[in-house]
Amino acid sequence: MNYRLLSDDQLEYVPLADAAELPVGERLFVTIDNSPIVLFNIAGQIFAIEDTCSHDGNPLDDAPLEGHAVICPRHGARFDLHTGRALSMPAAADIAAYPVRVRDGQIEIGWPKTG
Ligand code: FES
Repeated sequence: MNYRLLSDDQLEYVPLADAAELPVGERLFVTIDNSPIVLFNIAGQIFAIEDTCSHDGNPLDDAPLEGHAVICPRHGARFDLHTGRALSMPAAADIAAYPVRVRDGQIEIGWPKTG
């Protein structure tokens, strides 16, 4: 699911890390509510997706990037960092993508409100 499509009143922004912990070209692994998330800093723009390949349910870990796509290291499925969309087989299902903002030097991601 692309949570970036939700409005701010449907989201709760959760601070995850100091922005200095995620320099350009790096990635950062965090967990919210037991859900693994990976953050990427690509040319100063930060993206957050679920750290899971929908093909086997295991982490993307150090999966290579190609532009704004991450490529699963196991069978090569690609996922769009903007939307979480599965771009190529063998992954048929999308993964989650989250909105990101930086406030007061903190990286925050928009997490869907419950209830
Ligand atoms: S485990 Fe990711 S493409 Fe197969």
